[in-house]
Amino acid sequence: MRKTSGMLKGNYSIVALFSGDEESLYAFTSTSALVIGKGNGTYVVASDMTTISTYSSTYTRVDSNEVVKLSVNHGIQSFVDGVIIQKKYSIIDSMYKKSSFYTNKLLKNNVDFMISEIFEQPSIIDNILNKKKFDINISSILKSNSITIVACGSSYFASLIAREWFENISRVRVNVEISSEFRYRKNNFNRDDMLLFISQSGETVDTIEALNSINFLDNTLSIVNVRGSKITCYSKQSVYMDVGSEFSVAATKTFTAQLACLYRVVKLICDNKKQCDIGQNIGLSHKVSGMNGNIYDNIKGVIDNVIKYCTVHIPVISKFISQYDHLLYIGRGLGYGVALEGALKMKEVAYLHSEGIAIGELKHGTLALVDDKVIVVAIVPSDEFIHKNIINLHEIKARCGKVVVITDMCVYSKFQEFSNLDGFTFLKIPSIKGEFFPFSYSVVVQMLAYYVAKHRKIEVDRPRNLAKSITVE
Ligand code: M6R
Repeated sequence: MRKTSGMLKGNYSIVALFSGDEESLYAFTSTSALVIGKGNGTYVVASDMTTISTYSSTYTRVDSNEVVKLSVNHGIQSFVDGVIIQKKYSIIDSMYKKSSFYTNKLLKNNVDFMISEIFEQPSIIDNILNKKKFDINISSILKSNSITIVACGSSYFASLIAREWFENISRVRVNVEISSEFRYRKNNFNRDDMLLFISQSGETVDTIEALNSINFLDNTLSIVNVRGSKITCYSKQSVYMDVGSEFSVAATKTFTAQLACLYRVVKLICDNKKQCDIGQNIGLSHKVSGMNGNIYDNIKGVIDNVIKYCTVHIPVISKFISQYDHLLYIGRGLGYGVALEGALKMKEVAYLHSEGIAIGELKHGTLALVDDKVIVVAIVPSDEFIHKNIINLHEIKARCGKVVVITDMCVYSKFQEFSNLDGFTFLKIPSIKGEFFPFSYSVVVQMLAYYVAKHRKIEVDRPRNLAKSITVE
């Protein structure tokens, strides 16, 4: 076993069974993406915690220098350089147990995880924004000159949205980096710089390596969903989303949970600086806290209504979209990250070619693609960009592009006031207060992707070629 692992290159986790010794399993890894669960005379080896939770009550991680032997007679033995070592087992968080109960129920009723996870979002967002305890040491954030956020995929898009909140509301300078690029660059940070790592699984290898590449820094905070995951072991502080396991490969509830956690960090900075620019910089007028000291009292009700609206209207629009081969998602400011996320969801679950573009970038090249074979999905909330956005949408219509406008009644009336509505299809979702619109618009793009995938008869929860945790490069 040791000889073999010495010959292998790259990242791997291996579980082996030898012919002639069918009563033992051997496991080793180069990345620590292997967990062993123990419970009631049963041992389970898997790449993440969710899988082992049904069969185990405690778990341990396999380190990269270790070989583990699981056998009927001797239970579990761990070896380093051929010598047996004692391993510590930790209790599996009850969240995983609840999740597996819930999973079985959904499987029995044949409900897609993706849609049921979308439906969980109103409560999740409300809980994180208004109720969740946030025990982080804010002083390390306050003393840093800027924050660098590092993440992949949807977590990266959530970070781009959060950058707008950080910069506009708490007035902190923020860079957002893709983990797989960041890890190979020469970064010139100094001790006071703050780095934030965002990951649903906490096991994404690029984000782990990015974190390892700056391990000389004390000021690292991770926001993750999975307790005990590797990213939380390596970062100095962690915030848990605690939204239960997400089974669908497509991130939905963890995406909006990341947004809510990031918003809480922004709010904490504001509270500690005793300064908050909410409203002034992004053309809004409401106060940061609701009546009960909550950030947004009625956000659950609003997102519930958005879901109700989409359940009625999206199946029709998505049938129309499902006949096209190319989509562009466009947005500006906070809406840009939503556009990127919408395009990714559509690729991932509906296998449709879609791209997310900043509205202002259209003229710099992508507009050349627009014709009657392209659908443009526009994120047009009630923000300070309404008029600019309406003009840009007319430019698309003039090139025969089909435009689906995700907006609210207030913006819709502005549209009516200023322009001819022919050629636009509107999704007029319930209004939400100012800078919170990424929560509701994200739900809409998720539901759009879900229903298009259903029309195209795709198995939404397990899209081809993808995995839930990306533990290899
Ligand atoms: O677990 P992570 O948040 O680190 O994963 C990052 C991406 O792999 C992930 O967000 C991916 O893009 C999703 N499948 C998108 O739905």
